[in-house]
Amino acid sequence: MNEHDSERMTGVLRDRGCVPVSGAADADMVILNTCSIREKAEQKFYSELGRLKQLKMERPGMKIAVAGCIAQQEGKDILARAPYVDIVFGPSDVSRLPLMVESAFSQRSPVVDTSGDPEYHRRRIPTVRADKVKAWVSIMYGCDNFCTYCVVPYLRGRERSRPPKDIVDEVRELARQGYREVSLLGQNVNSYGKGLGEEDTDFAALLGMVNGVPDLERIRFVTSHPRDLSDSLIYAVRDLPKVCESLHLPVQSGSDDILRLMNRKYTRADYLEKVRMLRDAVPEITLTTDIIVGFPEEKAQDFEATMQLLEVVRFDGIFAFKYSKRPGTAALKLRGHLPEDIKEERLMKVLALQRDITIQKNKAYVGRHMDVLIDGKSKKGGKLSGRTRGNKVVNVAGPDSLIGSLVTARVTAAGVNSLSGEICE
Ligand code: 5AD
Ligand code: SF4
Repeated sequence: MNEHDSERMTGVLRDRGCVPVSGAADADMVILNTCSIREKAEQKFYSELGRLKQLKMERPGMKIAVAGCIAQQEGKDILARAPYVDIVFGPSDVSRLPLMVESAFSQRSPVVDTSGDPEYHRRRIPTVRADKVKAWVSIMYGCDNFCTYCVVPYLRGRERSRPPKDIVDEVRELARQGYREVSLLGQNVNSYGKGLGEEDTDFAALLGMVNGVPDLERIRFVTSHPRDLSDSLIYAVRDLPKVCESLHLPVQSGSDDILRLMNRKYTRADYLEKVRMLRDAVPEITLTTDIIVGFPEEKAQDFEATMQLLEVVRFDGIFAFKYSKRPGTAALKLRGHLPEDIKEERLMKVLALQRDITIQKNKAYVGRHMDVLIDGKSKKGGKLSGRTRGNKVVNVAGPDSLIGSLVTARVTAAGVNSLSGEICE
């Protein structure tokens, strides 16, 4: 989501004549687009800001802008800590960025605006995309769930859905420009449409509309909340040819006690039932999840329940995090916060278990022929890189002219992060 917010910042500024440069050393202005989901992201931001301060001492004319969730969270307090910052703006203030930039360059005082544009979700924001094959498309902003560990609802505000017509128009334009894949973005895409007032546009209906866009190859979406995963969405994944058979479904914990303390509003059994329904309907589906270890009051047996859930579900991959205290969240007030070494030990255990599962799952693809959408060069080895419909990375040898093409590849080897393959004629 942050990457896409950055693409929009680039878009609104390019419309005013700005051009991106290769690095901070050449820039008249640097924007740090920040994340505040965990403490670590915040620490990274402050150390980066310290580096920019040095640069600004050498080149005092350079402007520094702070965007994103830390900007939203701290507002003008950022200036108390870092008086050399010139602009502070939140995630829903991007459309006003050009005005802020103009005032920052014309007056000497800093500009702080984190008030949020109430019509942001109805605006068409110019966007300069980082990728040529795959595009992010926001479908909704904010979150109403208030999971007790999570700062997002406080910083990104209440759920607001973009009108379906605006989304479909954007996707149609992307397909016309040659994009092959879109990823629909929202904190909780399964509750898309709430409060829209347009008849019957829930998320499954939106997927149907996007599926109808000509010349588009693939549709993905993140993130789904297990509680809101409806039957109609499962059938949409099964029946709509462009919707990829791949789902990110954050479970967070395998323990009912912890899920309750997290305010997730589903039980372990509910989650397993959703997985069963998904796999019954779409046997090829790949599943990934998010796990938080070391949540307050997580006992050894709660953690074991998470480990066991990983063994039962056998996800294709997980993102696992140590619980991190976030300002203003309800979990802060729970008793039984755990020491860092226990969190660290639990994190290592889930990652090791999942690593084995991921390798086994990936190995099962060896010998199979897969549809791979080539989206760029691989990170190492000078090969091409692409993804299967299940979102597995496949590296293949081939000419750069294949970037953006759909090829059939035979999988020849599998590691934990990617598969290797050969393009078939
Ligand atoms: N501590 C650790 N992980 C968190 N996440 C969100 N908030 C926290 C927190 N306070 C994780 C959740 C979520 C993912 C995007 O980040 O697993 O699904
Ligand atoms: Fe945070 Fe929960 Fe909303 Fe996800 S669903 S953004 S974890 S509050």
